[in-house]
Amino acid sequence: MKDGRDSGYKKGLWFLGAWCLVLGAWQWALPISLELGNPDFELPPSNLPGNSTAPIELLNGNNTIPGWTYEGTVQYVPLAAGGGHAIRLGQDGKINQTFIANGDSMSYLLTFALSLGGQNCSVNASLVVSAPDSSSVFSWKQRYEKGTWESYGLYLGSWGDGESINLVFQSQATETDSNSICWPLVDSLLLKTIGPLTQTRGNLLLNGGFESGPDFLDDSKGTLLDPEPSVARSALQLWSVMGTVKYIDSKNYFVPQGNAAIEIVSGVSAGIQTAKTLTEGSEYSLKFMLGDANDSCMSNFVVGVQAGSVAQNFSLQSNGTGSSRGFSMVFKAESAPTLISFQSYIPSQSKDELKLRLQLNAKLSARNCSVLHAAE
Ligand SMILES: *[C@@H]1O[C@H](CO)[C@@H](O)[C@H](O)[C@H]1NC(C)=O
Ligand SMILES: *[C@@H]1O[C@H](CO)[C@@H](O)[C@H](O)[C@H]1NC(C)=O
Ligand SMILES: *[C@@H]1O[C@H](CO)[C@@H](O)[C@H](O)[C@H]1NC(C)=O
Ligand SMILES: *[C@@H]1O[C@H](CO)[C@@H](O)[C@H](O)[C@H]1NC(C)=O
Ligand SMILES: *[C@@H]1O[C@H](CO)[C@@H](O)[C@H](O)[C@H]1NC(C)=O
Ligand SMILES: *[C@@H]1O[C@H](CO)[C@@H](O)[C@H](O)[C@H]1NC(C)=O
Ligand SMILES: *[C@@H]1O[C@H](CO)[C@@H](O)[C@H](O)[C@H]1NC(C)=O
Ligand SMILES: *[C@@H]1O[C@H](CO)[C@@H](O)[C@H](O)[C@H]1NC(C)=O
Ligand SMILES: *[C@@H]1O[C@H](CO)[C@@H](O)[C@H](O)[C@H]1NC(C)=O
Repeated sequence: MKDGRDSGYKKGLWFLGAWCLVLGAWQWALPISLELGNPDFELPPSNLPGNSTAPIELLNGNNTIPGWTYEGTVQYVPLAAGGGHAIRLGQDGKINQTFIANGDSMSYLLTFALSLGGQNCSVNASLVVSAPDSSSVFSWKQRYEKGTWESYGLYLGSWGDGESINLVFQSQATETDSNSICWPLVDSLLLKTIGPLTQTRGNLLLNGGFESGPDFLDDSKGTLLDPEPSVARSALQLWSVMGTVKYIDSKNYFVPQGNAAIEIVSGVSAGIQTAKTLTEGSEYSLKFMLGDANDSCMSNFVVGVQAGSVAQNFSLQSNGTGSSRGFSMVFKAESAPTLISFQSYIPSQSKDELKLRLQLNAKLSARNCSVLHAAE
């Protein structure tokens, strides 16, 4: 895709990490971007000139599209007069591409742009993205954003070096009368690998700064992460996702620490959770910052934070001017792994509040930082 995608993500609240004492630099396994062939569908089907502005070309048995194999009804869709194309997966529409896994113990994370639904549709078909170890369904649901395109991130799997991985995008409709069905549009694929995470000095939480997650599209309005109960299968490495949260980058958003943060959207019940084995009976402090996304939204935002058996609500009065505030919570670890979660609550009904967001980085340390560092 080159252009033609809607802009206008501005409203929000952010929320980031504070810490006890940061001795080391932020460290994380360096991600590697993998090239998929024709990932943004800019190389046209064999029988179409590259600059074609024809409304929609039905791909049929007589043409091919570089990098991809297709089945069923698949359309090559110009998005704007200036160029930029996407693929629409119609009835039984399916495209696939194979890539070769490189490196062991790597997580493969995919980001892509998706447009679901449309005006006057009685049915909005879903998109199914699958790889050998995973299959994820993306369905139309009421969003907090305007705009038809959204980018999504997902965990595809983890494979051995040299394995051949078939990545498949497929439409899925519950009804067969295709007249009033709106079919999904797919564009701008980014594939990334991440190795095992290493602990950062001064933070007992792995990926507490949310540096390890899926890629961002160039003009990123954030990468949406759908619910994923398993930390092992989450695109936000080692954090499970409840509801839909947004992963945002420092290039497009104000993220005071590191390159990325999580936005938790109010008005929906959403959040993230991780687990950490700690020393039973010891006290720990969980530090984080809450802020707003500089979107002029004024409201009181409540975030529920849980660490083991301690649960507390933190509230931030937002000016919508991009301010932030650090918070902390002390808890005593029990024998079982300590669950740590951040969750937004559905506030009192107001249109404005539906658009509030939170961004966060979280930091966990033993309460006595000097003791923690001495032990390292
Ligand atoms: C497409 O490109 C060809 C060759 O570059 C040119 O002759 C043709 O006029 C172009 N068509 C459009 C619609 O821009
Ligand atoms: C492929 O091309 C042939 C010859 O032009 C045509 O008869 C046939 O209908 C085409 N196939 C499809 C599926 O459009
Ligand atoms: C798509 O999948 C089929 C098997 O289902 C495979 O034969 C084909 O090579 C795949 N296409 C690409 C481009 O990898
Ligand atoms: C389909 O998506 C549109 C938004 O693009 C929405 O207005 C409509 O209600 C959806 N229809 C159904 C049946 O979900
Ligand atoms: C949707 O329906 C309305 C009312 O029937 C009509 O005016 C409009 O043109 C339709 N939009 C599309 C994109 O078909
Ligand atoms: C936090 O607020 C929510 C919503 O008002 C409420 O349901 C929950 O019990 C509160 N939790 C605590 C620990 O106060
Ligand atoms: C909100 O705005 C007022 C006036 O502009 C300022 O004094 C106050 O510090 C701001 N509060 C926050 C939390 O940013
Ligand atoms: C908030 O947005 C305004 C206007 O876009 C900008 O001038 C300001 O620097 C931003 N503040 C922060 C903290 O990002
Ligand atoms: C905290 O650290 C100080 C300085 O290293 C030490 O004297 C003290 O005993 C520690 N407290 C606890 C509770 O471990």
